[in-house]
Amino acid sequence: MLLVWQPLGCRRSWTRRGTSRFSGMRQIYNRKSALALFTSMLIFLAYHIPYTIRFLEGLIPMDKCQVSYLEHLKMANGVDKSLNFWARSDVQTCTYWGAPIMWDGMFDPDVYDDEHMKRNTSVALTVFAVGRYIDAYLKDFLHSAEVFFMLSVPVTYYVFTDVPAKVPDMRVGPRRKLKVIHVKRHTRWQDISMMRMKAIAEAIESEIRHRHKYVFCMDVDQIFVGPFGTEALGDSVALLHAHFYHSPKIQLTYDHNPNSEAYMRDGDFYYHAAVFGGSWEKVKATTEACYRSIMKDKENNVEALWHDESHLNKHLFLHKPSKILSPEYCWDTGIGYRMDIHVPRLLWAEKHYKSLRAPVN
Ligand code: UDP
Ligand code: GAL
Ligand code: MN
Repeated sequence: MLLVWQPLGCRRSWTRRGTSRFSGMRQIYNRKSALALFTSMLIFLAYHIPYTIRFLEGLIPMDKCQVSYLEHLKMANGVDKSLNFWARSDVQTCTYWGAPIMWDGMFDPDVYDDEHMKRNTSVALTVFAVGRYIDAYLKDFLHSAEVFFMLSVPVTYYVFTDVPAKVPDMRVGPRRKLKVIHVKRHTRWQDISMMRMKAIAEAIESEIRHRHKYVFCMDVDQIFVGPFGTEALGDSVALLHAHFYHSPKIQLTYDHNPNSEAYMRDGDFYYHAAVFGGSWEKVKATTEACYRSIMKDKENNVEALWHDESHLNKHLFLHKPSKILSPEYCWDTGIGYRMDIHVPRLLWAEKHYKSLRAPVN
């Protein structure tokens, strides 16, 4: 506190002056601390609001499976009859066209494994690792798949890459194989992603169809952390995008450009292209259709909002999948806590777009 000289007898005035100085300083001090408090509140909110919004969004109820929907249940895969659609009252367990939506608690994995072992099911898992994605993700993807992906049936990994020599030289488990398919590297990352549709369709035609009943197609930037078993197999399988399964329809990121083949005004769900699959016939038809639409867009000089994913969403709207995987099958931990995610099975890996997608000369 500052002391200001005042003649004796003027104590009041001395005190008053002193006090007013003091209170002036206190005001400055208060203003400063209020500002500091306000700033830290802003920082706190800026950090927490997205999580809070996502958390609140998770409270928006999903539609509910209804008994009448199940009359249409497509029983191409008879083992789906063992599903308990009422085991999860917190989420949607079937669609209006009778496709199951697979959540933990609805199925007994042993029942599926037994059935598929009886049927001698085998599965092709396609994954692309082109350019910088090889070093960044491939090893973790394959190693974790060895621990968690369809352990009860024979699996062949089809690794599509532009540098086969860089594919990790790993020993895979019994009844598992790893095949490398050399693909050209497109200059733009959008094309690397979209042209997967063509390469998958060709590999199914030339090889996969002779060896495997089912095909799963996956992004490489993910890691298995829980059992991703034979319950996920079906005639045509799609995945609910982790960011949108509670979202109001208006927020779904379909392609709204009427000039694109992927144009959609409305849809059922928003599917994530990081995981899709089915019988080789269905996956071949899906990938061919998406590739055709992608090429038509190129002729018309348009590109869909989310590239192959937009075309996949359009195709799956017109040709309904027979089974849908909940976001447990491809979860983004960045979303934060969700009560309905009981067993995450595959997780989004960290995305480093700046360094990984930078064009190479
Ligand atoms: N990809 C690749 N190299 C690239 C870009 C993409 O191998 O330079 C493959 C990879 O399998 C990747 C997928 O295409 O997981 C889709 O791209 P990305 O994962 O970057 O798209 P996002 O999931 O982030 O939309
Ligand atoms: C993002 C995701 C993209 C795409 C997009 C759709 O979260 O990283 O790959 O799926 O959502 O809106
Ligand atoms: Mn990805």
